[in-house]
Parts: sequence; C-alpha cells; structure tokens
Amino acid sequence: MKKISLTGIKPTGELHIGNYFGAIKPALELTNEYDARYFIADYHGLNTMKDPKELEFTTRHVAAGWLAAGLDPQKVIFYKQSSIPEVFELTVMLLAFTSKGLMNRAHAYKDAVQKNIDKCEDTDAQINMGLFTYPVLMAADIILFDSDVVPVGQDQKQHIEMAQDIAQSVNANYGQQVLKVPQPVIQENVAVVPGLDGRKMSKSYGNVIPLFAPEKTLHKTIKRITTNSQSVEEPKDPDSSQIYQLYKLFADENEQASLANRYREGGMGWGEAKEELFRVVNRRLTPIRERYDIIMSDIPLLEKTLQHGTQKAREIASITIGRFRKIAGVL
Ligand code: TRP
Repeated sequence: MKKISLTGIKPTGELHIGNYFGAIKPALELTNEYDARYFIADYHGLNTMKDPKELEFTTRHVAAGWLAAGLDPQKVIFYKQSSIPEVFELTVMLLAFTSKGLMNRAHAYKDAVQKNIDKCEDTDAQINMGLFTYPVLMAADIILFDSDVVPVGQDQKQHIEMAQDIAQSVNANYGQQVLKVPQPVIQENVAVVPGLDGRKMSKSYGNVIPLFAPEKTLHKTIKRITTNSQSVEEPKDPDSSQIYQLYKLFADENEQASLANRYREGGMGWGEAKEELFRVVNRRLTPIRERYDIIMSDIPLLEKTLQHGTQKAREIASITIGRFRKIAGVL
C-alpha cells in the first residue's frame, strides 16, 4: 500500500509562476509516489481574508488553478476544508490536548506579535484566535486523514512538529495509538523563482508574473522586468540576469545554451531577451491558461468536482473521528 500524503493549499491571492514552480509542480509530482490528498484551506484563509467576495473568488481561483496545472481529481482526493465538518470536530478535541505554551511558540504567531509591537498596536486586540490556534486546525487537517507524510516548505516545518506533539499527547493519554503521528517531508531543491525586480517572486513584493494572465498582460509584465543599463553591443552575463533565470525554467536545453551564447557574444539588447523569454513562457502557459479559463467558466462543475472529493474525504474522516470519540468517551 502506498503511503498517504497530504497537501494543504492556503487560498492567498492570485497564483503566479513562483507558486507554480515552488509549490504546485513539486506537489503534483508526488501523485505517483503517494496516495495523495490535496485540499483548499479556506478556513485558514478566513483568518486574514474578511471580504467574502475575495475569499470566495480566491478559493475557486486556487482550486481551478491546481486542476488546470494537472491535478487529476480521479486519481487523488481533492476537496475544500470547509466542507469537512469532521475537521472542526477534531480541532475542538485536539484543543483539549494542546497547551497554550505550545501555541505561544509558533513562529507565525510570534511574527504577528512582533509586527504589532513594531507598529505600537495592541497585540491582544489585533491577533485573532484563528491565528493563535492556527497550528491546531492544521494538525486536525493532517491527523484526520491518517496522513503519513506532509510535504511542506521549510517555513511550515514547525507546524508539522506541533501536529506530531499534539497527536503524541493524545496517544500518551490513552496509552494506545489513537492518532497517526505525521512526518514532515521538507521539499529541498525546489526552484526559487526570481521576480521582476530580481528578488524572490512574492505577492508581497509586487514583483510577480501571474500564472493565468491573458497573453497581452503577460507580455506587458515581462517587459517590466528590471535590467541594468548595459548597451545592446555589450556582452552580458546570463547567470546574473533574472531574464535568463526565468528562461531556464521554461526553455529546453538547446534554447538555454543558445540564449546564453547570445548573452555572452553581445549584440543582443534586453528588449530582445525579454521577447525571447515571453515566447517560451507563453508557449508553456497557454495550455494551462486555456484549461483554467474553461474551468472558471463552469463554476457548478468545479463545485461538483470538489463535492466528489468531499464525499471520499468524509468517508475517511468519519472513521478517524469515530475512533477518537469512542476512545475519549465522547459518545
Ligand atoms: N499552513 C499551510 C500554508 O500556509 C497551509 C495548510 C493548512 C497546510 N493546513 C495544512 C499544509 C495541512 C499542509 C497540511 O501553506
């Protein structure tokens, strides 16, 4: 039997190519190795997103985005967190086994506290309990599905360790293995994608290339990549150019070698390099964008796809929660 992997996707804003190479693509590659489950963590999104239209749109955008990028809902279980009531039932049960001190140590919470202190704001008023108990909801997401492994970036490692701690406290209390203790799989060698200004591509830096932008917008965005003032004639260094770093993600080996040569020979201006980058980016993104547009044009079908995943997920969830309730004496 294959091991179970679980990937939670927080709906945060418009997907960009940094998300694609840094998260979506590596996560989808796990489908062959694991019995994989993917879900949209919309209740985690609610902690920061209070505009209903924004939360609804972002949740669908991200779901459609993963489907367009190749997630096969026939092969894996794909659902929305908010459609699984057992997640919240388990959250409440896990809260009873989680010390406040453990939550005080969470990096995400500590960062939020520090930001408020820096801004001279009242931390206790600014930070909601959703953020404070975030790791418990996340532990419930994971533990409910008997997940063996949770593939995450380094930034989420502490959350998985907290899920381990919480599951272990439950098991220790009852003297038996009630809940499976998950293992983090830290995804190394994941591409760090440079943004338009050369820093890591990130929504918060405003330097992203959106994944589903129409062709014209994509072209305009690529034209905005910052470059130095080297003239057309001057030889250029491909390795220090974010145009070339991005090109490597989209071009085949021959194309990469040939563009690197043109950099080194001189005679090619930045404008031309950007056109060549646009050509390969657009070639790769066009089919994904077309699939995305089709999915978003039929929301009822998208909801049905997620509903199908929900059914499968709840069958598994009800077993875990039933076992835990029985052992805990909550009948
Ligand atoms: N906290 C994760 C993030 O910010 C999202 C997430 C929520 C998650 N629940 C999860 C990830 C469960 C893995 C497993 O990206």
